[in-house]
Amino acid sequence: CGIVGYTGQKQAYPILIDGLKKLEYRGYDSAGVALHTGNQILVYKKQGKVSALEAFAAERSTTATTGIGHTRWATHGEPSDRNAHPHFSKSGTIAMIHNGIIENYAQLKNELLGKGYTFGSDTDSEVLLNFIEDIKLNNVCSLEEAVRIALKRVTGAYVILLIDKEYPDTIIAARKGSPLVIGVGKNEHFLGSDASPMLAYTKEVVYINDYELAIVRPDELILKNLGNERITPFVQQLDLELAAIEKGNFDHFMLKEIHEQPQTIRDSLRGRLLAEQGTITLSGLDKIENQLREANRIVIVACGTSWHAGLVGEYLIEELCRLNVEVEYASEYRYRNPIVSPKDVIIAISQSGETADTLVALENAKQQGATIFGIVNVVGSSIARISHAGAYTHAGPEIGVASTKAFTAQLAVLQLIALKLAEIRGTISRELFGVLLSELNEVPDKVQWILDNQVNHIQNIARQYKDARDFLYLGRGYNFPIALEGALKLKEISYIHAEGYPAAEMKHGPIALVDEMLPVVFVATKDAYHEKIVSNIQEIIARKGKVVAVVSEGDDTVTGLAETVMVVPRAHEIVAPLLAVIPLQLLAYYIGVERGLDVDKPRNLAKSVTVE
Ligand code: G6P
Repeated sequence: CGIVGYTGQKQAYPILIDGLKKLEYRGYDSAGVALHTGNQILVYKKQGKVSALEAFAAERSTTATTGIGHTRWATHGEPSDRNAHPHFSKSGTIAMIHNGIIENYAQLKNELLGKGYTFGSDTDSEVLLNFIEDIKLNNVCSLEEAVRIALKRVTGAYVILLIDKEYPDTIIAARKGSPLVIGVGKNEHFLGSDASPMLAYTKEVVYINDYELAIVRPDELILKNLGNERITPFVQQLDLELAAIEKGNFDHFMLKEIHEQPQTIRDSLRGRLLAEQGTITLSGLDKIENQLREANRIVIVACGTSWHAGLVGEYLIEELCRLNVEVEYASEYRYRNPIVSPKDVIIAISQSGETADTLVALENAKQQGATIFGIVNVVGSSIARISHAGAYTHAGPEIGVASTKAFTAQLAVLQLIALKLAEIRGTISRELFGVLLSELNEVPDKVQWILDNQVNHIQNIARQYKDARDFLYLGRGYNFPIALEGALKLKEISYIHAEGYPAAEMKHGPIALVDEMLPVVFVATKDAYHEKIVSNIQEIIARKGKVVAVVSEGDDTVTGLAETVMVVPRAHEIVAPLLAVIPLQLLAYYIGVERGLDVDKPRNLAKSVTVE
């Protein structure tokens, strides 16, 4: 799901198409554009990829200097041409695109049905559009005024862009809960779900906040709140290069991002970890030092891969800081009436900083007095902005839908937090602190070693197992969340069913699945549980399961037992997850490639889930 817009002196269509391609990584099932030619609005939309839309528009007129574009990820109504955006209002004079969900759409739809409206799609978006048009016609007001009145009645999340026949060079935009960035050029403006569509044209951007409405013309950007008061746009300079969102020599973004990890982990640690001096500096933590001293517990809130990072964080903080930690799925936490106290410190983990469930869970907890600390990758994103304090992960833009470098950057930042907090709380000896600092400092080089030495071998393993129907991933302790993450990576991009489990818990169910057809991936690096996991491996072998294991360099015990092993350098068990996950990312990637799948854009998945 993504939105783009352009108004200026250039042809809008190529800019919109290029922008939609830049947003493809977010995941979608249909695409469309609306172009204002000066006296009419043309809408082209198609189910499928942006390339299908391009083919459809190839023979049609695309000259216009104002337009909006959309990629849709279905919520209300199946993926189809009919449900694709932009939608036209009943009178055919206003076109609109929408990301998000209008929660009270049924009620609005009933009102409109009562007034004789009919609908060409199953979407909540078309309802909102006609609701806006109805207000415009009844109140005989401007589009801007109608949007403002309508949005006061709407519950849910949205970013909307509208163009109206009456105003040839104007785009009206508004947001609540879904991201919107406006790029400022010379006599032109760009709109996008993130900055990537405008990066080739301008580095000056304005991040729009919830409940703000923008009136965008080539030479003018007016921002207002829903009370019709003017707000001065805060123009920021983007610190992002175009190359960062291009594939370079790699076949896929996912592979590029896997290979970037030595650098991105280094970037997460840079300026924060000074191994030689034996210090960690995290200005975000300093800001909430008092709350941390007083805290009864830490609650980590996240979704997906970020939730897996949270589980590692739980083990780290409990072990090193002797502080109670709970890890919550944001979608559960926000709805199950959790006990939140002002003494809670909530750590939110999110690559995009826009995940709707995480965002709302935080807003709720914040209202109840909790302190919010964000571990976020996208600078300026919604979660970063509502947090009291935070630490950016500095992994750079992650385009592959399956998260890789953002995950390891999250782990690196969690390591820093756990160590710093242990120092603040006096729960770690100087000696261990020093050892772990230098262990962490060595991680980027060790990741590089894996990439230099294991890639071809893992590619062969992928060939061998690409046709398996199911996979089991097992790990214990710090490696249990890594088993979950390995399984998630595989199912996301290869569509093979995979399950992650705590290795010992496997005996209470999944063991029934084990036979000579089932590959079982053990995350079995050398740690305190090593003997235990060797026993678990024996249990699988006794039942003829095919064991593939991630092992520490020089560990002959597991190597002698497994069908095949993927080797990582030795490391302290606390930093080991940062290494153990790399072979699992590569395994998933190469299995996806061997199966001929579009690993960067897996079906049904979205990079940034801005709906609940
Ligand atoms: C989606 C993505 C996952 C990601 C999750 C949480 O499901 O496909 O890769 O882990 O959202 O996203 P966040 O941006 O909050 O980390």
